Amino acid sequence: MSGPLVLGIETSCDETSAAVLRGERELLGHVILSQDVHAVYGGVVPELAARAHMRTLDDVVARALAAAPVGLGDLDAIGVTVGPGLIGALLVGVSWAKAAAYALGRPLVPVHHMEAHLFAPSLEDPQARPPFVALLVSGGHTLLLWVPAWGEYRLLGETRDDAAGEAFDKVAKLLGLPYPGGPPLERLAREGDGNRHAFPRPMLHGGQMPGDPDYYDFSFSGLKTAVALRVAELEAAGSLEEERAHVAAGFQDAVLDVLVTKAMRASEETRCRRVLLGGGVAANRGLREELARRLGPEGRLLHSSPRLAVDNGAMVARAAVFHLARQEVAGPQASARADLPFPVRDWRLAIDN
Ligand code: KG4
Ligand code: ZN
Repeated sequence: MSGPLVLGIETSCDETSAAVLRGERELLGHVILSQDVHAVYGGVVPELAARAHMRTLDDVVARALAAAPVGLGDLDAIGVTVGPGLIGALLVGVSWAKAAAYALGRPLVPVHHMEAHLFAPSLEDPQARPPFVALLVSGGHTLLLWVPAWGEYRLLGETRDDAAGEAFDKVAKLLGLPYPGGPPLERLAREGDGNRHAFPRPMLHGGQMPGDPDYYDFSFSGLKTAVALRVAELEAAGSLEEERAHVAAGFQDAVLDVLVTKAMRASEETRCRRVLLGGGVAANRGLREELARRLGPEGRLLHSSPRLAVDNGAMVARAAVFHLARQEVAGPQASARADLPFPVRDWRLAIDN
């Protein structure tokens, strides 16, 4: 294989990661350091995240280069996540990448974090390329997209309040589970009966038509409140302990029902039975199984291995290889943006002034 040699850097949240990628799939070195400073707080503390990136990024990059093995001077470009994410955390990666690109005289390729998630499965599976419907579900985002080609994105729907992963984390907390709550909640739900506690399916009802504003959008904060009220009732009645698994199962069924139904609506409208699943919630086995079942034998569910589903530098390098080929590189004013919108238009203007 051949192609440009690109260093990808990811520091948007609580993973410090760097990867050396040649072309589209030759991953030569990859280091992901998950910060453990946040666990005792039950969530990511932005200031601690930024400080931990500052402490570790040099070493993480050095280890990725050594594993390849290549030197900084061998690189053709540096790709870096410029948003969305925690601003202090993003700035650590962006400052490092800008300084290195300038010192080496190589192009800096700005990468949108959620677009990088779209590219992750293609690192392992050559078939994971457009056209596809994409459901991106993480701790910070819930996006439903139509992707006819790389770089062409139609945003069909997104959450109006909490992200799907955030809902998992908050409900897990209500049930006394540790952070991040998705994996332990999924395990607990396996022991429960989802029919014992019926929870609402927000933004989902039979009368919705394509074109309606809520046809593809999501909302999870009301569902979280419904679970909180049920937990309080059960606690008052002294029966929370024996109902915990059933509540977890009822909540998970509601979230999966909404996610899968809306992804299938998109698949039907676009007449495309290829659905790409990305972001941390894609690790949920029930979600993958239900989506695969509804897609049927003609359909194709595209997703990455768990290592590339979490935040990582390899997906950033992969997205950078794509943009580098189109000469979509940043000018000297490039910076980070916490609320960077999804690149349906020319978002590079937003970071380059
Ligand atoms: O994409 P990600 O690693 O980080 C962000 O960019 O946010 O996603 C993390 C989210 C957390 O909210 C976590 O609880 C959730 O993904 N998650 C899961 C599972 N594994 C991780 N949610 C449901 N089921 C899981 N098995
Ligand atoms: Zn992410």
